[in-house]
Amino acid sequence: MALVALGVCGGIGAYKAVEVARGLQQRGHDVAAVLTANATRFVGPLTFEAITRRPVIGDQFAPGVNAQIEHIALATDLDLLLVAPATANIVGKLANGIADDFLSALYLATTAPVLVAPAMNSNMLAHAAVAANLDRLAARGVRFVEPGAGYLACGWVGKGRLAEPADIVAAADGLLGAGRRLAGRRVLVTAGPTVEDLDPVRYLGNRSSGRMGYAIAAEALARGAEVVLVTGPTALEPPAGAEVVRVRGAEEMRSAVMARVAGDGDGLDLVAMVAAVADYTPAGGAREAKLLRDRDELVLTLRRTPDILGALGRWRAGRPRPVLVGFAAEVGDPVARAREKLRRKQVDLVVANDVSRPGAGFGSDTNIATLISEAEAEEVPLGSKRELARVLLDRIEPRLGEADTGAGEAK
Ligand code: CTP
Repeated sequence: MALVALGVCGGIGAYKAVEVARGLQQRGHDVAAVLTANATRFVGPLTFEAITRRPVIGDQFAPGVNAQIEHIALATDLDLLLVAPATANIVGKLANGIADDFLSALYLATTAPVLVAPAMNSNMLAHAAVAANLDRLAARGVRFVEPGAGYLACGWVGKGRLAEPADIVAAADGLLGAGRRLAGRRVLVTAGPTVEDLDPVRYLGNRSSGRMGYAIAAEALARGAEVVLVTGPTALEPPAGAEVVRVRGAEEMRSAVMARVAGDGDGLDLVAMVAAVADYTPAGGAREAKLLRDRDELVLTLRRTPDILGALGRWRAGRPRPVLVGFAAEVGDPVARAREKLRRKQVDLVVANDVSRPGAGFGSDTNIATLISEAEAEEVPLGSKRELARVLLDRIEPRLGEADTGAGEAK
């Protein structure tokens, strides 16, 4: 499932965008509608809200709008920006980098592919100014669904009518399909913290938000993979299409992961251990009764939790699949420590986060990371967690191919 931002502009074809939204959904995609102010004169936001089951994005300056995570995250999370219908006005704005509303700003903010379905009067379409703007966008890699010829709403006959919704959906699906490089692949991602219960009301936890693991799961889904997300407690909505296994403690996460791997090991192509698994848990497990506040000092005895990633490395030893990825929260120079971890846990790639740097790590929306393999150390500059997920999967994809042929024999 991919996330498509559907930009709708103020043209008579705006009503057809409803059918485009529905068609995209029928093909299994998630749609976020972005309406320009003029679009709302032709078709009501409620129609899109009811169909997409998401809030419609309209005015970027409406009070409260910028507090909505979804709104802000759209630029980085979307897999395709589709503008249908695109008026001469939006074509001009996109071509010239004008960002005076949410849709035009989104075009500048996203790195996702862009597909534009123009619709306008035939003389406008043929005008040198519009033609130059379309050429400019094409030169930048924007794709188009050509407008059709026929009767136009203005009473003219000619080229300029919005392409048929089915053709727009097929073009969008084709572009998304080109990115579905993980179709047929099976991926297991762990995410979030684990919490170690102390008694019925208390636990030891950590500050992991789960966002990095959820971003990897969402990116793998967008690339067509089947995804199992084994998640500790988080406040996040899991990406649509993932099979979600909810756990609490490290031991529960271990058994959930190992059960999957044992049952399905040969079928799994990738296991990414993104979860911040607790290193220690109360010895003897959680107390049955609540600990009382009856002493000045309380000493807890903790014991090490099982190392899930280490167990996966040992289990896989000598086999090329699944590709194993670990995460490491480090401070200072991460490369040496992460490479040591890579060998000790027998994994293919360690993503080291320098959590001491601003903009990286727990609770943050962004990450700065170094991807460390036996042969390379690649620094990925500050970017959203979704962007890091993209780079990570780009690097993993060739390894999956090697694993298929046995060329990537586990190190
Ligand atoms: N991990 C795991 N099981 C644990 C602890 C960690 O599978 N009990 C995984 C994490 O999901 C992550 C990686 O191992 O992918 C992080 O390891 P880290 O805790 O940094 O490694 P340690 O071996 O515990 O090393 P350190 O001595 O640096 O704490």
